[in-house]
Amino acid sequence: MENIIINEVGPRDGLQNINKVLSVDERLTLIRALEETGIEHIEIGSFVSDKAVPAMTNTGGLINKLDNIDNYSVLIPNKKGLDEAKIHRVKEICTVLCVTDSMNQKNINQTVDETLNDLKLILGDSSKNGIRTKCYVSVAFHCPYEGKVDSTYVEAVVGQLLDYKVDEVVVADTIGAAHPKEVSALMTSLSSTYKDAIFSCHFHDTRALGLANVYSSLEAGIKKFDSCIGGLGGCPFAPNSSGNLATEDLVGMLELMNITTGINLDKLLVAREVASKLTNLTLKGRMY
Ligand code: HMG
Ligand code: MG
Repeated sequence: MENIIINEVGPRDGLQNINKVLSVDERLTLIRALEETGIEHIEIGSFVSDKAVPAMTNTGGLINKLDNIDNYSVLIPNKKGLDEAKIHRVKEICTVLCVTDSMNQKNINQTVDETLNDLKLILGDSSKNGIRTKCYVSVAFHCPYEGKVDSTYVEAVVGQLLDYKVDEVVVADTIGAAHPKEVSALMTSLSSTYKDAIFSCHFHDTRALGLANVYSSLEAGIKKFDSCIGGLGGCPFAPNSSGNLATEDLVGMLELMNITTGINLDKLLVAREVASKLTNLTLKGRMY
C-alpha cells in the first residue's frame, strides 16, 4: 500500500503540557533521538508567549542548534510568531484556529473571526516569503467548552482557509473525543468537497480511539498524520486534552497493515526511552 507520512509533534505538543520545562539542550536531545528513527517531519517547537507556554521558551535558540530545518515546522499563533519564524528561516509554519470562540479565546485570546482575519494576512505573507503553511483546525469535532461542533460549519471554515491559500489543513481532535464514524464522515466530506486540498489528521488518544480514528481517516483517503512519541501531548488550554496518539503505536499498526512509513520501530522505542528519561515520565505508548 501507498506510503503514509508521519509528522512527529513530540517536541512541541508533547512538551508543552508537562510540568517539567526542558532546557534547549534537552529538547535538542529529544529531536536527535527522533531523527535517528528516520522520521523526516518534526514539529520542533512554537513561537508563543513564554508566559502562556513556558516549555516553548527560546525555540529560536533551539533552531540555531539544528543543522537542517528544511523538513521541520514551528507553530505560530500570530504575526509576531511569523516574524520570529522569518528571522529563524523556518520553512514551514503551523498556524492554529480553534473553531469555537470559547476555545480560541482560551488558546490565543481571539474570537474565531479575529483569527481568520489575521490568518488571511499571515498565510498570504508566508507564501510571499516562500514559507509553506499549515493550519490546525482545532476542536474540529468536540469542544471542551461548547460540546459537539457542527461539521457543516467546520467545512465552511476550512473553505475559508483554503481561499486564503493555506497549503495544508490539519484536522484536529484536540480533546480526543471523536469516534471513528464522526471522523469518517468529516474527512470523507472534506476530501470530496475540496478535492485539490491537502488534509492531515491530528488525534489525541484520551479515550483510546486514536488508532481507530486513523483507520477511518485512511479509508477516507488521508495520507498524513501527526503523532507524538510515547503518547505525550495535550493543549494546556483545553481541559481533558490528554496525550496525542503515540507515534510507536501508529507506526506499529501501519507496519502490521504493510503500510510503510520510513520509520524504524525499534529506534522509536529507543526514542521513547530518551523522552521518558528527559521528562521523568512513564510514557504510555503500547508498543514493546
Ligand atoms: P495576548 O496576551 O492576547 O497577546 O496573548 P499580546 O499581543 O497582548 O501579548 C502578550 C505578551 O506575549 C507580550 O509580551 C507579547 O510580546 C508576547 P509582554 O509584553 O507581556 O512581555 N507575545 C509573544 N511572545 C512570543 N511569541 C509570540 C508572541 N505574541 C505575543 N508569537 C498569545 C496572545 C497568542 C501570544 C498567547 O495567548 C499565547 O502565546 N498563547 C499560546 C497558545 C499555545 O501555544 N497553545 C498551545 C498550542 S495549540 C495546540 O496545542 C493545539 C494543537 O496541538 C492541535 C490540537 O490538538 O487541536 C496545535
Ligand atoms: Mg494537539
